[in-house]
Amino acid sequence: MKRRILNFLLLLFAVGALGQTPEIIGIETKDMAMVFTAKPNEMATFQYWGSKLNANAEFASRGFKGQPDTQQDAAPQLFPAYGGRHYLNPALRVTHEDGVITTELVYVSSQKTQLDENRTETVIKLKDKLYPLFVDVHFIAYKAENIISEYVTVFHSEKKPIVIANIASSYIPLHADSYYLTHFYGTWAHEMQMKEEKLTPGTKTIESKKGVRATQSENPSFLLSLNNPASENVGEVYGGSLAWSGNYNLSFEFDESGVLNVMSGMNPFAAEYQLKPGQIFKTPEMILTYSSTGKGQISRNFHDWSRRYALAHGDKLNPILLNSWEGAYFSFNEKTLTDMIDNAANFGIEMFVLDDGWFGNAYPRNGDNAGLGDWQVNAKKLPRGINYLADYAVSKGIRFGIWIEPEMVNPESDLAKKHPEWIVKSGKRDILPMRNQWLLDLSNPQVQDFVAKTFDDVLAMSPNITYIKWDANRHVDNVGSEYLPPNEQTKFWYEYVKGLYNVYERIRAKHPDIEIQLCSSGGGRLDFGALKYHDEYWASDNTNALDRIFIQYGSNTFFPAQATAAHVSTSPNHQTGMITPLKFRFDVAMAGRLGMELQPTDLKGDEYEFAKKGIECYKQIRPVVQLGDLYRLVSPYDENGWSSLMYVSKDKAQAVFFAYSLKYHARTAYFETKMNGLNPDRNYKITELNTRNGQTSFYGNGKVYSGDYLMKVGISLNIGNPFDSSVLLVSEI
Ligand code: DGJ
Repeated sequence: MKRRILNFLLLLFAVGALGQTPEIIGIETKDMAMVFTAKPNEMATFQYWGSKLNANAEFASRGFKGQPDTQQDAAPQLFPAYGGRHYLNPALRVTHEDGVITTELVYVSSQKTQLDENRTETVIKLKDKLYPLFVDVHFIAYKAENIISEYVTVFHSEKKPIVIANIASSYIPLHADSYYLTHFYGTWAHEMQMKEEKLTPGTKTIESKKGVRATQSENPSFLLSLNNPASENVGEVYGGSLAWSGNYNLSFEFDESGVLNVMSGMNPFAAEYQLKPGQIFKTPEMILTYSSTGKGQISRNFHDWSRRYALAHGDKLNPILLNSWEGAYFSFNEKTLTDMIDNAANFGIEMFVLDDGWFGNAYPRNGDNAGLGDWQVNAKKLPRGINYLADYAVSKGIRFGIWIEPEMVNPESDLAKKHPEWIVKSGKRDILPMRNQWLLDLSNPQVQDFVAKTFDDVLAMSPNITYIKWDANRHVDNVGSEYLPPNEQTKFWYEYVKGLYNVYERIRAKHPDIEIQLCSSGGGRLDFGALKYHDEYWASDNTNALDRIFIQYGSNTFFPAQATAAHVSTSPNHQTGMITPLKFRFDVAMAGRLGMELQPTDLKGDEYEFAKKGIECYKQIRPVVQLGDLYRLVSPYDENGWSSLMYVSKDKAQAVFFAYSLKYHARTAYFETKMNGLNPDRNYKITELNTRNGQTSFYGNGKVYSGDYLMKVGISLNIGNPFDSSVLLVSEI
């Protein structure tokens, strides 16, 4: 009866709406706009996303791109659910309490709130035509950074739970002659490899089903260039990155009318979610940006936004550190570490980080096969405890940090024996170890408490611990939770990530000043969802400088250099065996957050002094690298075998330029490039930095050039041999 009355009211409402001009809902930042039109009780239309318009009023009378109003059905919806004539991938599919599997969303109202001087939130309220199912689409516009973050909340008042089969965070329809998708794939020690491809009719999908460290294979970020492959400084490019550390799915469906339907969100794979009446389901945020001047601006938008909103302490410089991993692995005693600390202090390094191997007594962590979960200091290796080491570091003038992997457990541990019910497993099926370890079930609040307490307890070992490296070295297989009821196992993917974020929130509320590194077998968990709780991320376990050029190139397309931990390691490289000069290793690491990861005593001859000077040099350029604007000049993917980039300070008074030779070039070949991002009307002095044995690669070293000259004519460098490199300081005079 109630439903009949509701339908009657809706009908009256619809009749009233007939002939009405639609409401225009604009979401604007400094340079871009998204526009929707909507009439009550009709489907809301996605009209436009691109450069900011002088006016939006025309959308009211033109219909979708000038088509008659009767064609509105064919126009892309704001948030298309499965139902009616929507034949494409839906943004939402639910099974209603009575088993009906269709939904038709119509517009209810919209509301705009100015959150502060830079952020405006627009909520567009939709509901099903027939059922009491309500969908709010939220857009937060970040004016200065030209970012729109979109997410969706769903709730209902049906009598029984409904099942959400899939729900996107954002839906974007684009229309152009052709579409070029750039995405970033990889694996362990080979993260963020770039691939650009022209899309053809059909659907291209980028996704992960690995659960808790979703990004080692494919990152949930993309660039989309219209009509031409993406270039740095020209052309329309769209960028998106899903802020979610779990399974995700980005689909690019090139439909029969030539529209590209971009759907981004959590992966619906084995993830049906029962939603009780009154309960609110919230999707992750999709971070979106657009540039009419190429992909360089897309990266700068993401970086500015990340430093302000999606990075802990994004306004501060990150310290130079020595990490013990590649220098000591699991084999160390107190003296090994105090010697490293002495050397770190000597180098001018600012922080020492003790990596894996410091804990476990009944099951000592002398390899990766035991001890995970037992977070007590190993008394045999470190009889005077962590406190002694942290105090020792501070007495030498450097800070102290320590490694943990609190989501995991080795079968060989006290914890695994005590809490088998906390381990992720599929009923009675054997659990497959990966790196000899199992995953703890963070969908369980008790496990969340344990992980949060582990963090507290580790910090409590010494007031001088001011940095934590948080690692995660396996993903989910044979999924299953003893905590979740048998008929709700498919909630695991969502609840695990929510549990992880709950722990991050608690930690951040309690320890706002602690610096935390996001690490997951290297860059296995690189997304804005996790990054916002961290100060930096470990981009890869591959520290080979040549590979790092590609990994940093990919990572820095979205995530800023300030947060990109980049360490100089020994040669031959431990992962690849490649031999490279120390200068090359420094010059590559200095383009991110410089650190070292080696046994200092392995540096031979003048290498020790060179490293010391390299660290001093980085301190000089650090503010520009970490807080400046990135301009990519030459891509390492270009066949010429060079790569170059520069960072320019916000006031354009200083820039740091990097160039690398990736292969052998003929003796007569010089590397040439034009600079970017400078002020054409100012003059700049160029000084070559970090030279070895007084050898320079730039003949104009010490000379003054106008910004105009540097950007139109450019410079040429003598870096033709494999692993030659050059760092130039460009300072306004
Ligand atoms: C994987 C990380 O990526 C490494 O840096 C190191 O911390 C090891 N784990 C330690 O087990």
